[in-house]
Amino acid sequence: MTTQIAPSVLAADFARLADEASAVADTADWLHIDVMDGHFVPNLTIGLPVVAALLKHAVLPLDCHLMIAEPDRWAPDYAAAGARNVTIHAEAAAAPVRTLRAIRSAGARAGLALNPGTAVDPYAGLLPEVDMLLVMTVEPGFGGQSFLDLVLPKVRRARELIARHGGEVWLQVDGGVTEETIGRCAEAGADVFVAGTAVFGSADPGKAVGHLRELAEAGSRSRPGGESAG
Ligand code: DX5
Ligand code: ZN
Repeated sequence: MTTQIAPSVLAADFARLADEASAVADTADWLHIDVMDGHFVPNLTIGLPVVAALLKHAVLPLDCHLMIAEPDRWAPDYAAAGARNVTIHAEAAAAPVRTLRAIRSAGARAGLALNPGTAVDPYAGLLPEVDMLLVMTVEPGFGGQSFLDLVLPKVRRARELIARHGGEVWLQVDGGVTEETIGRCAEAGADVFVAGTAVFGSADPGKAVGHLRELAEAGSRSRPGGESAG
């Protein structure tokens, strides 16, 4: 398991997206893009045209998190545009297997996201179809919310299911991930960490990423079984 940090531009200045992206280019692994449609979640952000524009400027690979009502229809287009990872929500996908396969066929990694109230066990059978499982640690829709500790047992369970599956599936957490909570997420088995406010709300976003990574690595070492487990 390698610790990866994905700053979410939801907390950045949308009028200066390319500059904000370059502030974390040397320290982060991914740039996390929250696509919201005002239907699946009560917030509206950006869509494919802005993602396509950002792809021309961003050095980091884009991790597109689609919080939209019709991921089956739109997700493959994000992959075709050049996003390196495209994550769809289990609650929104009508045909998740077909859509996850279409994302991979278009050249991206395929992610499956679960809201706080969605159990992970019913999706264990889909693990061969996914490159990353995203366990939401807030209700999706807004940045700056408080981390939901009640989700941590599900992160642990997801790590067990991934270990049992045997394939290399990354386990991402998103929402309320800060210097205070990232260690607990890593200890529970997460290895990819989305952080919006904790990075772009800081005076030095690049440095904030480095600090979060250190805390995550420490949490990962204190996990039962240590870093090599899973
Ligand atoms: C929430 C989004 C998150 C959000 C996280 O629905 O999916 O990616 O940007 O923001 P923070 O880190 O501020 O909770
Ligand atoms: Zn997100």
